[in-house]
Amino acid sequence: MAHPDLESYRHVASGKVREIYEIDADTLLLVASDRISAYDHILSPVIPDKGRILTAMSFFWFDALGVPNHLVGGPTDDRIPEVVVGRSMVVRKLPMVAVECVARGYLTGSGLLDYRATGSVCGIDLPTGLDEASKLPTPIFTPATKAEQGEHDENISFAHVVEQEGAERAEALRTATLDIYSRGADIAAERGIILADTKFEFGIGDDGGLILADEVLTPDSSRYWEAATYRAGEVQPSFDKQIVRNWLTGPASGWDRASDTPPPSLPDDVVARTRQRYIDAYEWISQLSFNDWPGAEVSR
Ligand SMILES: Nc1ncnc2c1ncn2[C@@H]1O[C@H](COP(=O)(O)OP(=O)(O)O)[C@@H](O)[C@H]1O
Ligand SMILES: [Mg+2]
Repeated sequence: MAHPDLESYRHVASGKVREIYEIDADTLLLVASDRISAYDHILSPVIPDKGRILTAMSFFWFDALGVPNHLVGGPTDDRIPEVVVGRSMVVRKLPMVAVECVARGYLTGSGLLDYRATGSVCGIDLPTGLDEASKLPTPIFTPATKAEQGEHDENISFAHVVEQEGAERAEALRTATLDIYSRGADIAAERGIILADTKFEFGIGDDGGLILADEVLTPDSSRYWEAATYRAGEVQPSFDKQIVRNWLTGPASGWDRASDTPPPSLPDDVVARTRQRYIDAYEWISQLSFNDWPGAEVSR
């Protein structure tokens, strides 16, 4: 069976990481690039295979989570052009909920900043005495607005979601987000990985129900920490990006993060070691071999 050419599909949008094409009125092709960003800069060069690895992880999680999702085909679906096999998902085109649905089991990043300023996150009061990377008494739903390209997502209160989406859908979003997070965190914990937080995007099905869309539980949408090295009170190393961050902020790069200049190109060994980290994350979580994932022949 001949695969179609990518050019035969209408290109509808470019996200930070994915290119979106329309297969037909009901169906999209989401193609993950190898782009990597750090400190709000898109870096060069790309990390070879990153798009395939993150796609492999999304497929693994969609299957493992067992909740309604937007996939309408497998990783080698006939509608996927040969050149992007392995980095593509064929999905149902859905009206998307304009809320980034974040679940946090641990306090860090913008959650920690909000907590330090107000004692709460997204209007949820938290106990005093929490610190960087503290485990929360119970996971919390901390929604955010979906920012334009180049902008930061902004945390919003649950009341804001109710105003925007109505009480019933807001409640459903919170319940689904916390439920899926806890399923994912349990599976990750069995493998020695802490799923500190994550962001889901939902679409709306024909019956009005929520459908898990976009990518899911990838290192781009989540913070993965190694349980063995976890220490509350400290900034945890990023499972996937620490090698890049260390190099960028270390003396070797010569880069001043506070300046307006874009970061220099990553050296080959930093690229290679980062690529291996992504593979390790996939294999560790899925207990599958990345060698078996389709598309190796066409990925470069
Ligand atoms: N099933 C779907 N139907 C419609 N849009 C979707 C679906 N799944 C994901 N999307 C959208 O496709 C885009 C994915 O590209 P990505 O590079 O991740 O974008 P972003 O820069 O917004 O993170 C996102 O805007 C996401 O909301
Ligand atoms: Mg995205």
